[in-house]
Amino acid sequence: MKKNSELVGREQGLVTPPPLAARDKTQKATNCIAKRSQSIYKPSTMTASKDEKQQTPDESVTAKETKKHKKKADNWRPLGPRDPFAMLNALPEEKQQEIQRALHLFNLGPTLPRTLEQAKKHQYHFWDTQPVPKLGDTISSHGPVADGERRVRAEPYSLPQGFSWDTLDLSSAAVLKELCTLLNDNFTVEDDNTLRLDFTEEFLKWTLQSPQWLPQWHCGVRVDSNKKLVGFIAAVPTDLTVYAKEINMVQVRLLCVHKKLRQKRMTPVLIRELSRRVAQRGVQQGLYSAHVVLPTPLSTCSYWHRSLNTRKLMELKYPGVRQDIAVQRAVKLNKLRDATKTAGLRAMTRADIPALHSLLQSNKSKFDLSTNFSVQGVEHWLLPRDRLTFSYVIQGEDGGLSGAFSFFSLSWEVLNDPQHLELREAQLLFCLCPSADLKDVMEDALVLAKAKGFDVFTALDVMDNKTFLENLKFNMSGKRTHTYLYNWKCPTVNPDKVGFVLPI
Ligand SMILES: CC(C)(COP(=O)(O)OP(=O)(O)OC[C@H]1O[C@@H](n2cnc3c(N)ncnc32)[C@H](O)[C@@H]1OP(=O)(O)O)[C@@H](O)C(=O)NCCC(=O)NCCS
Repeated sequence: MKKNSELVGREQGLVTPPPLAARDKTQKATNCIAKRSQSIYKPSTMTASKDEKQQTPDESVTAKETKKHKKKADNWRPLGPRDPFAMLNALPEEKQQEIQRALHLFNLGPTLPRTLEQAKKHQYHFWDTQPVPKLGDTISSHGPVADGERRVRAEPYSLPQGFSWDTLDLSSAAVLKELCTLLNDNFTVEDDNTLRLDFTEEFLKWTLQSPQWLPQWHCGVRVDSNKKLVGFIAAVPTDLTVYAKEINMVQVRLLCVHKKLRQKRMTPVLIRELSRRVAQRGVQQGLYSAHVVLPTPLSTCSYWHRSLNTRKLMELKYPGVRQDIAVQRAVKLNKLRDATKTAGLRAMTRADIPALHSLLQSNKSKFDLSTNFSVQGVEHWLLPRDRLTFSYVIQGEDGGLSGAFSFFSLSWEVLNDPQHLELREAQLLFCLCPSADLKDVMEDALVLAKAKGFDVFTALDVMDNKTFLENLKFNMSGKRTHTYLYNWKCPTVNPDKVGFVLPI
């Protein structure tokens, strides 16, 4: 049995190439996904009544087959003590949540490296097989990691028995809702289990249906028995300038595996399948970001937070918010003026698209990494959308645009707090104003975000943001995001030379 399943796994391309020690581990994981598909997602109506047990000859053949299937299924069942996952799943949802909270508190789960030091000691069974630069290599050249044309596999990567690929049709409201549910339940819970990202359908359309998006790059995994969506990864096309070289690539988005299927190596299969679908379109490079250290960060940027609703953030012990001063004093310290003061500042309209496009294009040469927005891209990403994107332009006396800024909204559900249910975060996409003091313009962005009901404003230390972060009382949270390129090597990029922000 072991031999057979190993063979199947290898033929299906589910495992990283043999004979890594990891092969056993990967196979165990593959078995485990299959096993769990039968334990977690087994329909509850499977026991037969007495009457059903009396058979006709035809039924007896079927019964034999059923018996054979059952025997096969039994092979996945552990012989020793009861499967702890089955035990966990037998508990009511509330109890499961409680246990998950406890696990969070004690941080028992294996974690991926968060620093380069930790990463150097970690063995990357999957990423070591991928065309990405090796950790610790000093890179001075520019170009693809894998030389020459790579053969693109024609058929999809196989999933363990009980699971199937599903290209998600996001034009269907029901599918969009399902994806929202998967992400809301499984995407981000802060490490201390206090906040959970609340995705909206509008946000998903914004982030997954940017110009030239392709349906086949919205890649889901479902459980066969009940069609439940348990895994997702997506890509959208993007034009990136990397050290003056324009590369047509994809941005990878919203990788997510259901919590009950974690640490089962579903991620490598999702990434391989997405890379295959992307390569089928002749695209060889990808841009992605993660909070964990993988081989090998191109750039590492820090999150900074500015309190807008100071009292609430202190009550929630929001990361980076000072707790060592009295609330009244903190509120006073963070007070903002009531109105904006930049002359000519107004909300962006459709008519501003061409001028804003030119302004962004003329600014991007300052950076080693920047996105080449098309006019359609400016419209998609920046044109204000209700409760989602907020863009403002500064109109000079001559009628032209001299500056602009844009931020988007992230909603968090507050967990385990008796007082607060929701936290609204504004995240800066860019603030650009070549002819005025960036700090003043950015202060107006804070004023506007506060007026719109946001509790906190977040910015990365990318672009010229460092010039205003401390002055405007942003605090560094200690949380970082690493930017990666798939199949492209080049020297690392300092945060102030990164000319974009990826919305998650
Ligand atoms: C990220 C996530 C999909 C990883 O799932 P998992 O069950 O822990 O990991 P798996 O067992 O499936 O796969 C492990 C492999 O995936 C890699 N991996 C884990 N997280 C990754 C990430 N964010 N990006 C790329 N690869 C990742 C691991 O490095 C490991 O490969 P290695 O052997 O080379 O080290 C899962 O934790 C998740 O859904 N998290 C919430 C959403 C999220 O944070 N998404 C990432 C946004 S950047």
